[in-house]
Amino acid sequence: MDVEPFLAEEEIAARLAELAAEIRGAYGDSRPLLVGILKGSFVFLADLGRELGPEYPVDFMAVASYDGASSSGAPEIRLDLRTEIRGRDVLIVEDIVDSGNTLRYLLQALREREPRSIRVVTLLFKPASFQGSERPAFIGFEIPPDFVVGYGMDLDEKWRNLKHIGKLIQNKTDS
Ligand code: IMP
Ligand code: MG
Repeated sequence: MDVEPFLAEEEIAARLAELAAEIRGAYGDSRPLLVGILKGSFVFLADLGRELGPEYPVDFMAVASYDGASSSGAPEIRLDLRTEIRGRDVLIVEDIVDSGNTLRYLLQALREREPRSIRVVTLLFKPASFQGSERPAFIGFEIPPDFVVGYGMDLDEKWRNLKHIGKLIQNKTDS
């Protein structure tokens, strides 16, 4: 496998400034709790959070990954929030929404805790593979259903720390 350039650091940074403005505009005086979904969102959350400003609290969750074949089973919470969210505005920060299954489960689990509001910002969204009914409120880029890596996103823990986002391409020698 190899990686070809897809979104450059500068394109990502420019879009994050716009996203931060959208988010500020949508929340008015409220500062939602930013909930990063580990591991993939850690780079996006670091950059978006600094773009939003120092008043935004941050917490993390981790959800067990599942392979496509067994995706009917609900993913499991592996690391939970340390923050009480009842009555608060919560903004889930995702690296990428693909089928939307992970998100559907997370939204369901967090809504039981009765936050004042819960919305989602995702850097990347694949409309062609999305099977959910609720699109994320804030979307960085809509992309084709190809596998991407970098900027926090991995394939088997590889390429997570790339500064840009790349697309995986099959080498002739791979098969
Ligand atoms: P979903 O439940 O199908 O929406 O998948 C969401 C999760 O799958 C993401 O948070 C990622 O961890 C992973 N994922 C989906 N597509 C990609 C991709 O193109 N690159 C890296 N990870 C991905
Ligand atoms: Mg993820």
